[in-house]
Amino acid sequence: MQRSPALESESFDRVLSSMCTEPHPAARTAAERFLASNPGDPATYEEVSRLETKAIDLLAEIVDHPAPDAADGYITSGGTEANIQAVRAARNLSEANEPNVVVPESAHFSFTKAAELLDVELRTVPLDGKLRADLEAVSAAVDEETALVVGVAGTTEYGRVDPIPELCAIAHEVDARMHVDAAWGGFVLPFTDRDWTFSDAPIDTLTIDPHKFGRAVVPSGGLLTRDGRTLDALAVETPYLETYSQATLTGTRSGAGVASAVAAIEELWPKGYREAAKRSQRNADWLASALADRGYEVVDPTLPLVAASIPKPIFEELRAVGWKVARTTRGEVRIVCMPHVTRERLEAFLRDLDRLD
Ligand SMILES: Cc1ncc(COP(=O)(O)O)c(C=O)c1O
Repeated sequence: MQRSPALESESFDRVLSSMCTEPHPAARTAAERFLASNPGDPATYEEVSRLETKAIDLLAEIVDHPAPDAADGYITSGGTEANIQAVRAARNLSEANEPNVVVPESAHFSFTKAAELLDVELRTVPLDGKLRADLEAVSAAVDEETALVVGVAGTTEYGRVDPIPELCAIAHEVDARMHVDAAWGGFVLPFTDRDWTFSDAPIDTLTIDPHKFGRAVVPSGGLLTRDGRTLDALAVETPYLETYSQATLTGTRSGAGVASAVAAIEELWPKGYREAAKRSQRNADWLASALADRGYEVVDPTLPLVAASIPKPIFEELRAVGWKVARTTRGEVRIVCMPHVTRERLEAFLRDLDRLD
C-alpha cells in the first residue's frame, strides 16, 4: 500500500517561527519506549512515575531551586497547561472573593484561557520602553484581591525578560503569589546573567518546557513549585486508582513526554544546552545585524529571537516559497533561532529575502 503523505515526518528545514525544535536522538528513543505508559496512574506505571520524579529533580537544578528536595511539580502537556495550573493553584489558595491575576501585555495567550476557565479577572498591564512589564503599571494594578502576578522570562514575541525580583516583591506585598513563565526561555537563561530562578527571587511557581529549547519530544512541559503546598492546592481525589489524589490537569498523560525530558536533560545539561544557547544567540545577533544592514528596523535580540519590520507583501512571498515565518502583534516578522535554525538556513533565508525584496 502506498504511504499517506500525512505520515511523512515534518521537515524543520524552513521552520523559523516555531518555539519547538528537533528532539535530541536520545529523547526520541526514550519517548518511543514509554509511548504506552501513563504517568497519570503512577501505581500502575511505576517506572515512568519514577522517571517523572527524576525529571522534576533535573528541572529543579536548571531553575536553581534552593531546596531541590522541597521542589515539586510535574511534566505537563506544555506551557499552556503549566500556566493554567499556576493560575488555578493561586486562585485555590487565595482568600479573595473575586480573585484577579495581573499579567504584562507580553504574557502568552494561555493566561487568557486560564482566566476564562477559572473565572478569574485578568488584569493586563502595559510594557515599558524595553518591552518588559512596566513596574509602575503592575503596582497600580494589584490590590488585595490579586491572587497572582505573572512575569515572563523569555517573551513569546520578543524574547524579553521581565524584572522578576521586582515583580515578586510587588506580588508578595499584597499577599499574591508570583509565577514566572520561562516556558521558552528556561533552557537558555541559565547561561545568561538574568534574574529569573527560584534562587533569584522568592517566586512560587515556574513554567519551563522541555519540548521547546530542552529538545524533548512534544508533549513535554514543566510546572515547578517552591514547595508541596501548590500541588496540594491542585489535587483532587481519585477514587478508582490505587493512589489517592491527582494534581494534574489532564488524566491520562504521555509517558513519552516524561521519559524524553529525562533523556534530553541527562544528555544536554549543562554543556549541550550551553553550546546550543550560545550558538543560537550568535545566530540571532548575526541575523539582526544582517537585517539592519538591509535597512529593516530590528528589535534587539536579548535572547535568540529576532523581530524585524519586513513588509507584509514580502512576508507573504516568503511564506509562499515555503518559509515558516510568523508575525508579531505589531506586524514584525519574528524569527526564533532554535537549535535547528543553523547559519546555513539563515543564509538561505536571506538569499530568498534579497531576491524577493
Ligand atoms: C512564554 C510562553 N509561555 C507559554 C507558551 C505555551 O506553550 P505551549 O504551546 O507548549 O502550550 C508559549 C508558547 O510558545 C510561550 O512562548
